[in-house]
Amino acid sequence: MNRQMCGRAYVLLALVGCCCLLGLPLADAAVVEHTFHVGNLTVNRLGQRQVITAVNGQFPGPKVEARDGDTVVVHVVNYSPYNITIHWHGVLQRLSGWADGPSMVSQCPIRTGGAAYTYRFNITGQEGTLWWHAHVSFLRATVYGALLIRPGPDKPHYPFPTPHGEATLLFGEWWNASVVDVERQAMLTGGAPNNSVALTINGMTGGYELAVRHGRTYLLRLINAALNYQLFFKVAGHAFTVVAADACYTDPYDTDVVVLAPGQTVDALMYANATPGRYYMAAQVYQSLANATYTAATTALLRYEHHDAAAEAALTLSRTKIVMPIMPAFNDSETAQGFYGSLTGLLPDGKPTVPLHVDTRMLVTYGLGVMPCMPAQTLCNRTRGSVAASMNNVSFQLPTTMSLLEAHARGNVDGVYTRDFPDRPPVVFNFTSASASSNRSVMLTSKGTKVKTLRFNTTVEVVLQNTAILGSENHPLHLHGFNFYVLAQGVGNFHARSPTRSPYNLVNPQQRNTVAVPAGGWAVIRFTADNPGVWVMHCHLDAHLPFGLAMAFEVDDGPTPDTVLPPPPPDYPQC
Ligand SMILES: *[C@@H]1O[C@H](CO)[C@@H](O)[C@H](O)[C@H]1NC(C)=O
Ligand SMILES: *[C@@H]1O[C@H](CO)[C@@H](O)[C@H](O)[C@H]1NC(C)=O
Ligand SMILES: *[C@@H]1O[C@H](CO)[C@@H](O)[C@H](O)[C@H]1NC(C)=O
Ligand SMILES: *[C@@H]1O[C@H](CO)[C@@H](O)[C@H](O)[C@H]1NC(C)=O
Ligand SMILES: *[C@@H]1O[C@H](CO)[C@@H](O)[C@H](O)[C@H]1NC(C)=O
Ligand SMILES: *[C@@H]1O[C@H](CO)[C@@H](O)[C@H](O)[C@H]1NC(C)=O
Ligand SMILES: *[C@@H]1O[C@H](CO)[C@@H](O)[C@H](O)[C@H]1NC(C)=O
Ligand SMILES: *[C@@H]1O[C@H](CO)[C@@H](O)[C@H](O)[C@H]1NC(C)=O
Ligand SMILES: *[C@@H]1O[C@H](CO)[C@@H](O)[C@H](O)[C@H]1NC(C)=O
Ligand SMILES: *[C@@H]1O[C@H](CO)[C@@H](O)[C@H](O)[C@H]1NC(C)=O
Ligand SMILES: *[C@@H]1O[C@H](CO)[C@@H](O)[C@H](O)[C@H]1NC(C)=O
Ligand SMILES: *[C@@H]1O[C@H](CO)[C@@H](O)[C@H](O)[C@H]1NC(C)=O
Repeated sequence: MNRQMCGRAYVLLALVGCCCLLGLPLADAAVVEHTFHVGNLTVNRLGQRQVITAVNGQFPGPKVEARDGDTVVVHVVNYSPYNITIHWHGVLQRLSGWADGPSMVSQCPIRTGGAAYTYRFNITGQEGTLWWHAHVSFLRATVYGALLIRPGPDKPHYPFPTPHGEATLLFGEWWNASVVDVERQAMLTGGAPNNSVALTINGMTGGYELAVRHGRTYLLRLINAALNYQLFFKVAGHAFTVVAADACYTDPYDTDVVVLAPGQTVDALMYANATPGRYYMAAQVYQSLANATYTAATTALLRYEHHDAAAEAALTLSRTKIVMPIMPAFNDSETAQGFYGSLTGLLPDGKPTVPLHVDTRMLVTYGLGVMPCMPAQTLCNRTRGSVAASMNNVSFQLPTTMSLLEAHARGNVDGVYTRDFPDRPPVVFNFTSASASSNRSVMLTSKGTKVKTLRFNTTVEVVLQNTAILGSENHPLHLHGFNFYVLAQGVGNFHARSPTRSPYNLVNPQQRNTVAVPAGGWAVIRFTADNPGVWVMHCHLDAHLPFGLAMAFEVDDGPTPDTVLPPPPPDYPQC
């Protein structure tokens, strides 16, 4: 079984089948079972008591730990004041789209007042760091946790030297108000939601500590759970070797800075080989938008500890100074893009896995825009209109009566969605020119619930083209249900035949579930639609989601019984 199984689940199933036929002992897959009680939790942050929505009274929520091949079963019971769903970010959900979690895409929410739903899915051909989070309103600000997948019993080793220890760092954002109120206020004004007031590391606005021993190697599992900001991460006096991103192994990449867009994860080995002492680990906002002012940062402590307490005490006394890393400038796009563009995928058995035949090509422009204010937007400036966002000029609107997936499975989508998401932008303009940023004739957009329908097993190539409307920004796009290959990226407008465009990497491109598309630029992704269901692709800056920065792929069933989406589970929530 090969390692880079991102998106190759049917191969895995076939090989497991072979083991049975050959009479080999089938490595025992486990069932990892959790119950998530979602409810109020009162916490103190920044000197203030605050009620947040959280799972099992923990913030961040419980860590889900599984091995490749395991079945994960999570019973979610909702006692919070809000309707809720949970998304298992990056899990491929082979034939289990009912468990994916985006509200009104794969399910109606689990209602407030003690309603329950059991998410049940297999981990198939994936290893590394993923996470789970609420996928409704802005609730993921506090409803999130890590989902770690260790190598399965059939191939129990990492493709790198086994580290001595590991630590998970979840980066988040903190508001000193209810995030549901923050979102509601943005809806009423038709503008951007309030910024957070702090960044967090493992839920803390400062003070998180990680103890290490000199000479050891640690696997840091880094997760950007922030709602709206990309981050730079550094540890003073220490360097990393990146070994995976979005639970896809990468070629070892040496760096002293890690860059993560919301939704992305990075697995990085850190060598504790500095002079024993105390060092800051720092996360800082990376801003790709010109003239942006929000520059929050936060720290945690890396502390060397000794085998014996006396030496430890002497060390603590002797070293009071804590070393701070020198961070990149908050708008250092060169460093950000240098990191994003340097990762390559680790090849299983040295053989490329990129599908070379493309069945469907799309060019999708996306970014911000405006729309007339709606009557419900009582605080909206009617001269300016409401901020909106769109993909190929469709501002995505969620259905209200039934999830997209349920309508798809019923075979009657009337009144829920239409199958006319365009393959190309309806109007070609200079997408990334600064003059587009304020050009009224290209700004206006309108709502729709349009999907792109794909035959089973179609290979799709999508050019994701940022627009400069209302400003150029690096938008991280997240695709549910698949990993994709990132074949190329660049700035300006994508030109298929331009001699100056970066060439496609068809040998060892990185695989991801979230790509940070360069500000005022583009990225080319490719994936094979071999998982039937309805899969949303959206900007993982949550501020842009209610504006409509999303679309969905509808993937038809395949020809054989094991390529057909099963019926919904009996407790599937109804609207
Ligand atoms: C949870 O918190 C909200 C907001 O503070 C409050 O309105 C609600 O009554 C609380 N619910 C419970 C069950 O305590
Ligand atoms: C929860 O969802 C139900 C059904 O869609 C809806 O009637 C209700 O208003 C929602 N409640 C909240 C608090 O959003
Ligand atoms: C998940 O794995 C279990 C146990 O191996 C198997 O019975 C089940 O069919 C799998 N489910 C899917 C959707 O593949
Ligand atoms: C929230 O934080 C902002 C910025 O620090 C501050 O101006 C505001 O007063 C705070 N609000 C509350 C309710 O604490
Ligand atoms: C958003 O920020 C403004 C200005 O600081 C403040 O007046 C407002 O109360 C904030 N909204 C929420 C929901 O916290
Ligand atoms: C940034 O600010 C400068 C100076 O105020 C202004 O000239 C420029 O147009 C602004 N850029 C954008 C993209 O808003
Ligand atoms: C970054 O921000 C600084 C300070 O605001 C500004 O002087 C500089 O021009 C900006 N750099 C870029 C590349 O935008
Ligand atoms: C409404 O928007 C227009 C155009 O952007 C602007 O000129 C005007 O000042 C705004 N009005 C208010 C009350 O903010
Ligand atoms: C605005 O966009 C339209 C449509 O592409 C184009 O014809 C027009 O020249 C643009 N105006 C400016 C000022 O760039
Ligand atoms: C598009 O805009 C950019 C930046 O303003 C400019 O350099 C380029 O020449 C324009 N391209 C075309 C085809 O007009
Ligand atoms: C987008 O759609 C709106 C409304 O349907 C239309 O007015 C506008 O011209 C379109 N813009 C582009 C760039 O396609
Ligand atoms: C999907 O297509 C590939 C390449 O065309 C083919 O090798 C494979 O058998 C197909 N898989 C299924 C499950 O149909």
